Amino acid sequence: METSKNHCFSIVFLIVCSAVLSLAHPQVQSHKFVIQETPVKRLCRTQNSITVNGMLPGPTLEVRNGDTLEVLVVNKARYNATIHWHGIRQMRTGWADGPEFVTQCPIRPGGSYTYRFTIQGQEGTLWWHAHSSWLRATVYGALIILPAQGQPYPFPKPMRETAIVLGEWWNADPIDVVREATRTGATPNVSDAYTINGQPGDLYNCSSQDTTIVPIDIGETNLLRVINAALNQPLFFTVANHKLTVVGADASYTKPFTTSVIMLGPGQTTDVLIKGDQLPARYYMAARAYHSAQNAAFDNTTTTAILEYKSAPCPAKKGINAPKPIMPSLPAYNDTNTVTTFSQSFRSLRKAEVPTDIDENLFFTVGLGLNSCPPNFPSSRCQGPNGTRFTASMNNVSFVFPQTFSLLQAYQQGIPGVFTTDFPGTPPLQFDYTGNVSQSLYQPVPGTKLYKLKYGSSVQIVLQDTSIVTPENHPIHLHGYDFYIIAEGFGNFDPKTDTSKFNLVDPPLRNTAAVPVNGWAVIRFVADNPGVWIMHCHLDVHITWGLAMAFLVENGVGELQTLQAPPPDLPIC
Ligand code: C2O
Repeated sequence: METSKNHCFSIVFLIVCSAVLSLAHPQVQSHKFVIQETPVKRLCRTQNSITVNGMLPGPTLEVRNGDTLEVLVVNKARYNATIHWHGIRQMRTGWADGPEFVTQCPIRPGGSYTYRFTIQGQEGTLWWHAHSSWLRATVYGALIILPAQGQPYPFPKPMRETAIVLGEWWNADPIDVVREATRTGATPNVSDAYTINGQPGDLYNCSSQDTTIVPIDIGETNLLRVINAALNQPLFFTVANHKLTVVGADASYTKPFTTSVIMLGPGQTTDVLIKGDQLPARYYMAARAYHSAQNAAFDNTTTTAILEYKSAPCPAKKGINAPKPIMPSLPAYNDTNTVTTFSQSFRSLRKAEVPTDIDENLFFTVGLGLNSCPPNFPSSRCQGPNGTRFTASMNNVSFVFPQTFSLLQAYQQGIPGVFTTDFPGTPPLQFDYTGNVSQSLYQPVPGTKLYKLKYGSSVQIVLQDTSIVTPENHPIHLHGYDFYIIAEGFGNFDPKTDTSKFNLVDPPLRNTAAVPVNGWAVIRFVADNPGVWIMHCHLDVHITWGLAMAFLVENGVGELQTLQAPPPDLPIC
C-alpha cells in the first residue's frame, strides 16, 4: 500500500501538498502608523487634522483570515491616542483592542505601542479607528479580510473590489467641537460635510476636483465594501440606477438579498455586489443622514462619489463640458420604514450556531438623559434643555471612564477602586420605556460599573431604546465579540409575545446592532473571550455622554481560555 508520503512525490500531490503548506503558514504583516498633524484641504479651506501617515482616510489594511497583524503606532500628535481594530475578535489579546482607559492607557504624545493580534475565523470588511476622544473623526481606515489563501468567496469572484468609507467632516478641530459641547452641556455642532473615501464630492463647494471615482465596466460584477465611519450619524447609501446585492456585513457573510438602498449606523459595514448592467455613463453614489431623533439638529447635506463606466464615451468622462452624472433619489431623512425593511432582510449565510441554553438573561435600556445644573456651574455650562446638561446611560448608569488605570489592567493586576462589578442586569426601575416618560426618570447615576460573565456562559441581551429626551436609533457595538441579532421590534420588548419572533436558525452575526428607534433588539453570544470588553453606542456624542458599559469576562480553564499576558510596551498612565 502506498503511503500518503509517497503520494507527495508525484507532481500532482506536490501541488496539493504545497497548497496545504501555504494554508498552514499564514502571514505576519507589519505596518507603521504615524499619528500626526497634517494640513487637509476640504470645503475651500485648510484644516490641520490628525491623520495616520498623512492620509485621510488612513491606509487600508488588507489581510487574510488567519494572518497576524503587527502595527507599530507612533503618536506624533499633540493629543493622546489609541487605535481600535473595530470588529476584530481579539481572542485572548484584549491588550490590543484599543479603547482608551478600557484595555490600555492612551499612547501619550511622543509615545508608541505595537498592536499585535491574529485574525481568527473572520472574513469580510472591518475597519480601524482612533478610540480616544473624537480623534476618530479623521483617524480611521478600512481593514479588509480576504479568505485564507486558496479559499473562495461564497459568491462569484468580483472583477473589482472597492472600499467605500463614509466619513464626517468638520470645518474645525473635532476635539475642539467635543470640548465645547462638554463645556456647555449642549449638543455638539453638527458636521459640515459627509465624505466618501475622504472626499465630500460634487454637491459641496470647492470639492468637485477631488470627487472619488469608482470604476466599473459593462458586464462586470464588483464588490463595494461600504463602511460607516461617520462620527455621529447613521447614513443611507445608494447608487443611481443600480441595484445592490448584500452579501456580508460586519465581516460575516449573509444570504444574498437585493435592495436599492442600504443604511449603516456608525461602526457597521455592508458588502454589496454591483453589476455593470446600465448604459456606459457616470452615476452618482450618494450618502446622507438617516435621522431618527426628534427636535435635534443634524447635518442634512449629501456626499457623492461617481460610479464611472470605463467604456463610457469620452464626453461622459471628467471634463469641463462633461454632462452631470445621474443622481439617485435617497429616502427621506426620517424614513424608518425603509430602515426596518432593510434590517429585517438580513440572514446569516449558513445555519447559525445560536446559543439556546441562556445563562445570562439581560435587559439593558439605552438612551439619553438630562442632568440638572450642578450648583457651582454658571448657566453658560448648562445649555441643554431648560438649563440642564445632556447625558446618556445604559440601565440608568452613565458610564465614567477611569483616568489612572485601564479597566483591563486594574482587573489583571487586582488594583482596587477603579471599577465595581455591580452593573445591573435589568433596569433598576421598570417603566414604559418608549412611552411618555416622567421627567423624574431623566437623570441617570454616574458610575464605572462592569458586568461579570463566567467563561463560556451563554448571554442574551435585550437592548431597549428609551424615549427619554428623544427616542433614537442607537448603533450598539460590542468589543471582542460578534453576536447574533435574533429579533428586533418597536415599542417595549415583551417576553410573552416577542420571543415567538426569535430567529434561532439563521440570524445575522454582527458586531454592531442598529437598535430601532423607540424599539428593541435581542442579541446572543457565548462569552468565550476573556477580558474587559466595552459595549457602547457608536455615536461618539453618546459615548461622550456615557452611553456605555463593559463586560468583565473571566478566564476559563487552561491557557487557551486565559487572557494573555500584557505586552511589555503596553502604555501605562
Ligand atoms: Cu468602533 Cu468602541 O468602537
